Amino acid sequence: MPLALPNAISAALDSRADAPYFEVTWSDTDTEARGYLVIDRMVRGLCSGGLRMRAGCGLTEVRGLARGMTLKEAIHFEPGARYVPLGGAKGGIDFDPYHPGAEGVLFRYLAAMRPLIEQRWTMGEDFGVRQEAVDRAIRHVGLSASVQAAYRVVPDLDASRARMSTAFGTVVDGVALDELVGGYGVALAALAALRHTGASPEASTAFVQGFGSMGGATARYLVHAGVRVVGIADVHGVVANPAGLDVERLLRTRTPGGELDRTQLRAEDTTLPGEAWLTVPADVLVPAAASYGIDAGNHDRVAASVIVEAANMPVTPDAERALHARDVVISPDFLANSATNAWWWWVLFGDIDGTAAASFAKISERITALSEQMFEHSRRHGVSPRTAAFALASEHLEEISRRYPAL
Ligand SMILES: NC(=O)c1ccc[n+]([C@@H]2O[C@H](COP(=O)([O-])OP(=O)(O)OC[C@H]3O[C@@H](n4cnc5c(N)ncnc54)[C@H](O)[C@@H]3O)[C@@H](O)[C@H]2O)c1
Repeated sequence: MPLALPNAISAALDSRADAPYFEVTWSDTDTEARGYLVIDRMVRGLCSGGLRMRAGCGLTEVRGLARGMTLKEAIHFEPGARYVPLGGAKGGIDFDPYHPGAEGVLFRYLAAMRPLIEQRWTMGEDFGVRQEAVDRAIRHVGLSASVQAAYRVVPDLDASRARMSTAFGTVVDGVALDELVGGYGVALAALAALRHTGASPEASTAFVQGFGSMGGATARYLVHAGVRVVGIADVHGVVANPAGLDVERLLRTRTPGGELDRTQLRAEDTTLPGEAWLTVPADVLVPAAASYGIDAGNHDRVAASVIVEAANMPVTPDAERALHARDVVISPDFLANSATNAWWWWVLFGDIDGTAAASFAKISERITALSEQMFEHSRRHGVSPRTAAFALASEHLEEISRRYPAL
């Protein structure tokens, strides 16, 4: 029985193959917060996946995200590379990340998960959680790094640490490299999708929902490629300009949590309510905020002909079927937004040296090649790009299972 796709995982697991390897629920001692950790698969006793915080985050969502991580790891399998993909996992906390008590909740959750982070679960930031806060919490509970479980399979730890310190100490035009790599990959996935539809970047426009790590960097690199970014949404609403927004200025002045500074808008920019994010005319729509934003109730309002999933699981399966039927091309999360995760491992295991130049070159080469393989498979077999990418990842997953033990 094949695995269910991440966005199709339901509360009642459909098959044994869909059952995660491990899952736990945590209840905070000081607030009403609940947290989850789902390990979908292990490879060599290791799994990888970030931690998100949002009010309403539930176990089904975290299961889907953990499955997505399994696919995101597997799709980057390259025989002969130093990085051997890990299993997939995800943490989720049901709590408002803007609440003043959010950091305390994060610290207590990570203290509870300490033994797993020490030995099995390599983790980092995700929606609503900042890597800087994760790093402080990790030191607070007496660990050295949020990815330290992987250290036992790293051949030369000192060299590895030196590369990581280069990577995490690099800032490119005012933004830290680790906050850029994911969105850089999304922008490349968008360019590949535009090529697939026969459109040129210079003649195309984009709307980005979310202006944090992923959305901010995606917007920057779409602009670099010649695409006009005509709208951006954050948690407070939409800013738009059909002639293009000044993305660099908005990047320089956003808050660390990705909130736009509306005092920086120019006279010709407009503000719109949040629900306008689907309908502002743009060729490319990049959901880079929460999951499940495009569903059965609103897919008919999507104005774009290309959707590139910077967020995890932003499109529900029923919405995707309807969008596919009207030829909207969707580049799926486990390929389009996979660069952050793969980049950590390319640096840690030594496939790249951690400099900005090597990082951008590797991401460009891999995301472009994988996107092209996906679109080629999709054309040849008449299936959606997600089904095509899933076939690619599943093939790699089988090869990984043959070569490496789970534990
Ligand atoms: N950070 C990563 O490395 C990474 C990697 C792969 C995938 N992702 C996925 O990308 C998405 C965004 O992650 P991030 O790390 O950029 O998050 P972030 O916390 O840095 O930023 C989130 C952004 O979304 C905005 N936002 C929140 N609620 C919104 C709403 N209802 N409407 C519009 N905007 C809203 C916030 O204002 C902020 O601009 C998540 O789905 C995450 O799982 C993140």
